[in-house]
Amino acid sequence: MRSPGKIKGRQIAAPTISARLSSHVTLEAQADGSIAACFDGYSTGLGKFNPGLIDRAQALRTGLPFTSFASNGSVSDKEIDLLVRRLARRGLLEYRLARSGERNDQVVIEPQIPDYWPQTSKLADADVVVLSRFAYLRRRGNEMILESPRAGALFRICDPKVASALTLLATPQKISKLRRQDSFPGLELLALLMDCQILFKIEADSDGLRANEGDDNLVLWDFHDLLFHARSTEGRQANPLGGLYPCAGVMPPPPAVRPRWPGKKIDLGKFATPSETMSPVAKLLRERHSTRDFDDQHPITLAELAQFLDNTARVLSKWESPLDLGGDGPVIAYTTRPYPSGGSSYELELYLAAANCEGLGRGFYHYDADRHALVPIEVRPQDFDAMLNSAEFAMDAPGAPQILVTIAARFDRISWKYSSLAYSLILKDVGVLIQTFYMMATDMGLGGCAIGTNNIDLFARMTGIDFHIEGPVGQFAIGRGAQEQT
Ligand SMILES: Cc1cc2nc3c(=O)[nH]c(=O)nc-3n(C[C@H](O)[C@H](O)[C@H](O)COP(=O)(O)O)c2cc1C
Repeated sequence: MRSPGKIKGRQIAAPTISARLSSHVTLEAQADGSIAACFDGYSTGLGKFNPGLIDRAQALRTGLPFTSFASNGSVSDKEIDLLVRRLARRGLLEYRLARSGERNDQVVIEPQIPDYWPQTSKLADADVVVLSRFAYLRRRGNEMILESPRAGALFRICDPKVASALTLLATPQKISKLRRQDSFPGLELLALLMDCQILFKIEADSDGLRANEGDDNLVLWDFHDLLFHARSTEGRQANPLGGLYPCAGVMPPPPAVRPRWPGKKIDLGKFATPSETMSPVAKLLRERHSTRDFDDQHPITLAELAQFLDNTARVLSKWESPLDLGGDGPVIAYTTRPYPSGGSSYELELYLAAANCEGLGRGFYHYDADRHALVPIEVRPQDFDAMLNSAEFAMDAPGAPQILVTIAARFDRISWKYSSLAYSLILKDVGVLIQTFYMMATDMGLGGCAIGTNNIDLFARMTGIDFHIEGPVGQFAIGRGAQEQT
């Protein structure tokens, strides 16, 4: 940590950063000498430590300064460091920033990703910093929080002076100038914000606007779209997610069917098609249903998978069209495929986790829709299993799907053209593709099920592609249904 030095002749104590147990967590020594973290009726083992460490570890209740154990290399320091890291890995810690000797928190950092660890990069007086355009302050309960979809942690702002410093940071600020402000929060906080990409450093003569902040792929994102992407998926946030019925105790369930409008009805029943003359498509639509239980004795074959992809997702033809912007616009390349796509963008890519497919090795593949081919991607077995397990969990299924299709979006393809509605178009395209999958699976006598959650961090780890460049926006499980075997 760097000292902020003297300000207007006064010596201001440098804020200290401490690790603190989240309020719902307690530490307990077990009979065998190991330490466990207990929360919400659960207990998780943290390993065996020397007797006596539990007493020192109790300081984590109010906050254990990093400086108290990071530097001196004694056995006890190493053990407490290990314990703190294990707690951090399990998401059981928050980090408190406060002026030394002060009881009140200045800022509390809540990790949002499992490997968040507070880092303070160096900041010099000549550096110029500015807030990210993805950062925002909002009320959560009775707290003010600062967050960003790019950040690995959110910051609970407890001291109003910090909020006032943040206001200044809407325009580029030289550190030496910031230091002279009454609201200067200390270099430690600025460095922690930089680590979370809530603040970023710019050249002294730059305007700090959109183009300065990151790569071209980031420039293409609108604020609300990146926020929606990161907050409506798993992997980069610690909020509860999924079918948790958060309002069940607050209001009754809304009705399945909309209450009727009062006007006189025009009955359409008399136009109904008799089932014997119903079209094949109408029949398919009625037959379609979700299948979550697959017959692993008779898995889907590679030939069936190839046919499924051929009929739903492959590139059928290519064409080009110049962009008419009144001048020399670029020529834009397009494709046609079996399903519709907003603006003919076809930004969706298919990645297949093949768990049980006759003729295809267990593994992770990209579907090259242009060449109608599968290309293997090497991934860590634990990540592959984690992807399948979470699909199994999301479907409350008795086993993993035979093939799990992850639908990923090349975000640039669509946001290069569309402002404000890019992400919503992507989600609409996903819906269209999912229905196409359902229809083809039904037609082929296979079973399928859409999955509403996906982990954008896991996918980034598996592919090595940053979450804002190409990432999952939907999933679909497919295989031979346990009921549908021939
Ligand atoms: C966007 C979307 C997300 C879905 N997510 C899940 C899911 O995560 N888990 C699951 O078991 N079913 C999921 N489903 C399937 C629905 O539960 C199913 O379509 C619905 O219950 C109607 O049943 P049917 O498809 O058999 O007609 C999803 C469906 C859609 C369209």
